[in-house]
Amino acid sequence: MAGNWKMYKTPAETKAFFETLLPLVAQSTHADMAICPPFVDIAAAVEAAAGSRVAVGGQNCEYRKEGAYTGEISAPMLKAAGCSCVIIGHSERRQYYGETDATVLLKTKAALESGLQAIVCVGELLADREAGKTNDVLTTQFDGGIAGLTPEEFAKIVIAYEPVWAIGTGKVATPEIAEDAHKVIRGLVAGKFGADAADKVRILYGGSVKPNNVKGLMEQPDIDGALVGGAALEAVSFSQLVNF
Ligand code: PGA
Repeated sequence: MAGNWKMYKTPAETKAFFETLLPLVAQSTHADMAICPPFVDIAAAVEAAAGSRVAVGGQNCEYRKEGAYTGEISAPMLKAAGCSCVIIGHSERRQYYGETDATVLLKTKAALESGLQAIVCVGELLADREAGKTNDVLTTQFDGGIAGLTPEEFAKIVIAYEPVWAIGTGKVATPEIAEDAHKVIRGLVAGKFGADAADKVRILYGGSVKPNNVKGLMEQPDIDGALVGGAALEAVSFSQLVNF
């Protein structure tokens, strides 16, 4: 269960979130948990989460290690700051900041090389879905990004299926729609990396996951977890997702 805070919260708010959250998930050994706050909150999150099972991750990284790249943060920097994972290729990064399948691949490799687990996002736009192109889009994103990993690299990633039309809109994909897409993605993994890799890879669903719909999604055989925006901003609600 991963929370993506997007551009919300200050360090003080981060500290308060973890103070409330940690007792609520202290027994939640059934799930791996991560919170991905804005860069400036990472230090506060790492300090607040120390000794707990809640990992801290970045929401993006630059694929170069260092250099004259104003405003960017590299994967080794995230690792040094105490992160253990990073979200790569979120649809908001693709939509507003020009990320492509090619940069997703470069960033994923950079993250893995730095010892971070990469949560690699794929997902179609509403127009794609309405045009019946969901599977084509997922295939293109997979082929241009994830398929460029070595099998060893692939074994260290988590995939997040995030239909863009369901993100922040309150329109959750039905468990059946999500399951269909997860099946397609698992099939792509099987084709490229083999049945064992397809079995093992964790595929998270993202897009308006809330405490009242998480259970139906998690009941699906190919949905292994959730990448959550809005409902991860509040500690009690995030704990309810973890403890679905
Ligand atoms: P949401 O965001 O849960 O607010 O829809 C999901 C995401 O973008 O990861």
